[in-house]
Amino acid sequence: MMRHLTKKFAFLLFFTLLSYSQQVVAQDIIKPGELWPDNNGNHVQAHGGGIIKVGKLYYWFGEYRAKDNDPTKRYVGCYSSPDLTNWTFRNKVINTGDPADFGNNFVMERPKVFYNKKTKKFVMYLHMDSGNYQAARVGVAVCDKVDGDYKYLTSFRPLGEQSRDIGQFIDDDGSAYLIFEDRPHGFHIAKLSDDYLSIEKEVCLIKASLEGGAVVHYNGLYYAIGSALTGWGANPNKYATATSLSGPWSEFKDIAPPETNTYNSQSTMMLKVVGTKTTTVIFMADQWRPNAQWDSRYLWMPLQIGDGKLVLPKPQPWKINVKTGEWAYVNETK
Ligand code: DGJ
Repeated sequence: MMRHLTKKFAFLLFFTLLSYSQQVVAQDIIKPGELWPDNNGNHVQAHGGGIIKVGKLYYWFGEYRAKDNDPTKRYVGCYSSPDLTNWTFRNKVINTGDPADFGNNFVMERPKVFYNKKTKKFVMYLHMDSGNYQAARVGVAVCDKVDGDYKYLTSFRPLGEQSRDIGQFIDDDGSAYLIFEDRPHGFHIAKLSDDYLSIEKEVCLIKASLEGGAVVHYNGLYYAIGSALTGWGANPNKYATATSLSGPWSEFKDIAPPETNTYNSQSTMMLKVVGTKTTTVIFMADQWRPNAQWDSRYLWMPLQIGDGKLVLPKPQPWKINVKTGEWAYVNETK
């Protein structure tokens, strides 16, 4: 009897401690520029990333640049979250050596995943390149599961043009677009084919030298963001607007005071959270640390957006309710 009770007590204690430790780990604040611990306490490795929502969960994909990576391989990390704040590590959905002939120091950057309803496949686009960034191609990988092991299929130059940084845009009608930077010409917005495995057509070529491209459709207007071409160094990111994706686009203006260099960050995506009370657009950016990439940080902030204006507020801690779409600053000293 006594032994039975002790066992029961040990079980109770174990589960109480477990739930306590989980409570301690749960976060409700997004802290731009700080380490972002995942469910295992490791800094999220999803740089140059993108997010899609599948069912009730958001999935964040990005460059997995952990310090102990095998240097001959490249990885894409996948994390899930119900609230955009607490992230669970799911899988290194890409874990590969050079998949074709890109050579030593091959580049695999800025993964973006789309879900194709017709084929029921998850389709990933990647920036594939040689170590000196001269191949300038996109790679395509597919999987039946959002967080499964993606199969690398092929690489090509979209519309026959050079492609380095890529971005993704899914319009309110579900149409999927690849954004890509083509150095001689500019910022392309291209519609994906029916199965998403190739490009159907050019929708717009904005003649501006911008990378880190992102687009959002908000209150009847399209907003495009991009950064200047300064490698890993931050620069003043800019935005333009248009009533149609095909343009004409306005001139580009700063999204933040230019002397802050976008608060030392570079755009990767704008995420629209449509809630029951309001819609919030989150600016997702990377604060690169080229000499310690595993320690690169994320700058996520809700944008002040509307009526053709877009402003990135000064980064500070904030929280979001993904159900209502509402967000608020958090004064951590309280
Ligand atoms: C800027 C790009 O935005 C990054 O993704 C990366 O490709 C660096 N250039 C490399 O210098």
